[in-house]
Amino acid sequence: MLNISQSTTGTANGKIILMGEHSVVYGEPAIAIPFPATHIQVTITAVEGPVQLDCVYYQGNLASAPTHLENLMAVVESTMSELKQELKDFKLTIKSTIPVERGMGSSAAVAIAMVRALFAYFSTPLPDNQLLALANVSETIAHGNPSGLDAAMTSGRHPLYYIKGKPFVPFHLSLSAYLIVADTGLKGQTRDAVASIAQLNRENQDKTMNAIHQLGDLAKQAKLAIESNLPVLLGSVMDTAHETLSFLGVSNETLNHLVRTARLNGALGAKLTGGGRGGCMIALAADKDTAARISAALSDAGAVNTWTHPLGDDKVE
Ligand code: MEV
Repeated sequence: MLNISQSTTGTANGKIILMGEHSVVYGEPAIAIPFPATHIQVTITAVEGPVQLDCVYYQGNLASAPTHLENLMAVVESTMSELKQELKDFKLTIKSTIPVERGMGSSAAVAIAMVRALFAYFSTPLPDNQLLALANVSETIAHGNPSGLDAAMTSGRHPLYYIKGKPFVPFHLSLSAYLIVADTGLKGQTRDAVASIAQLNRENQDKTMNAIHQLGDLAKQAKLAIESNLPVLLGSVMDTAHETLSFLGVSNETLNHLVRTARLNGALGAKLTGGGRGGCMIALAADKDTAARISAALSDAGAVNTWTHPLGDDKVE
């Protein structure tokens, strides 16, 4: 008989992709960092009867949750079937500070936190590969063809150099620079953006794959720039990546406006981050004062939220 706890929690954090979004889906490398400034917690408590869900979008029976929560329902069902448990007699409460659909990995993070909370509730050990496989059930519904990067990043605490299907390479990030993250306030459209690049690839494979390989080369250059503590080089690599992502059709006018604003205010480089077509952008600043100026300019230009992080350590605080 399993030992069932009365209440357990599972947590996960947001993530920021420095380089390699979209090209990572095609086997090119990406560099991403955990973003613990935004995080999520799922709490499971024992209640009798059908499973209840309590989150900002919905309170009630899980079985009657709205269709936009189908990835969440799928991950709960898959996890319960893996645990060989019946779907009843508990309540799921989700509290999150990760902005939804902003390229910060909120869909992966909720899945990671959910699987962790359920395994803890049924006192079952959870190996990393099982956690990531279950989270990718939800990611496949949310994104169509996920690289696995978001699930890896939102479950971990270290920067990663990530190539789809290969073991994660924890990445020592120590750069004399500041990262500014700005939220456009617009929902990103990762699923559509991933699908549109796949369509572009069907229509013009040479052109599309050239751009994808270029993004991969830029991610490799970014790795060298970080390892050699060359923020100016990293900035210029970020600028080029933004142009290539725009060429692939995954930027939009709001992101371009914020990227231009950051550059005009002294950024070493700036680009969209995550799926694009909304969501967030990032900018690199050489020092704290420039970072503050860029952050203020981004807010004036319409960003609904900004975060600034020193990159001088292994992780962002
Ligand atoms: C989304 O955060 C990142 C993408 O590269 C999709 C993926 O990696 O699955 C756009």
